[in-house]
Amino acid sequence: MRIDVVTIFPEVFPGPLGVSVLGRAQARGLLELVVWDLRDFAEDRHRTVDDYPYGGGAGMVMKPEPFVRAVEAIQRAASAGTTGPDSALRVLLASPQGRLFTQAQARALARLPRLVLLCGRYEGVDDRVADLVGAEEVSIGDYVLAGGELAAMVIIEAVGRLLPGAVGDEASVTEESFSTGLLDFPHYTRPPEIRGRRVPDVLLSGDHDAIRRWRKREAVRRTLARRPDLIDEASLDEESRALLRELRERRA
Ligand code: ADE
Repeated sequence: MRIDVVTIFPEVFPGPLGVSVLGRAQARGLLELVVWDLRDFAEDRHRTVDDYPYGGGAGMVMKPEPFVRAVEAIQRAASAGTTGPDSALRVLLASPQGRLFTQAQARALARLPRLVLLCGRYEGVDDRVADLVGAEEVSIGDYVLAGGELAAMVIIEAVGRLLPGAVGDEASVTEESFSTGLLDFPHYTRPPEIRGRRVPDVLLSGDHDAIRRWRKREAVRRTLARRPDLIDEASLDEESRALLRELRERRA
């Protein structure tokens, strides 16, 4: 997969994306990260990418033309080596006004051959940009960052680690939080006891069916306690639904 990023701070990439799972994915050729400097697409000598807001108010707004020209350049680069319509190129604009980014979206994006991420700064990006370049606004959470670069990195890491072959043990990707729609069950390693805190006996029992049931129950219990908002959307099997009924009756 190839991911193109447009930013006024190209020097912050690859940053954390250069190590560990994402670093290896790039070294193995599973992921290609191409970073573009938005200022290269400015139209003036000063490489201006922002301007005063119409209507007045605090802060500056990012101009539309550099983004449009950058996406056009990326589209040309995309169509050079591949066949098929340019319109297939998916473009995301990192913004706190966007739809919330989820694991389900990460899974869908990981199936694409290419992806473009636009990073905003200042008070925001001229509102016509998303429409002009066919971008979808995406937020990584209900808080405001100083710019879209960290959000783009979060999206790239969430997508890149799902590329086939990126993570050594595929099971660790399919069993983790949000793959079932539930939080993950608790994990433990040695020692069996530390400062009076013991690992649950069942995990030392060697009874694999009991361990499987305990983990399922803990995933449901944690989700109910910490993220009840996820329960209704989760795809639960009959065993998990029974556990949920039992846990809810106990709490009532
Ligand atoms: N830019 C600023 N805040 C953001 C957020 N929460 N998500 C995505 N992009 C952003």
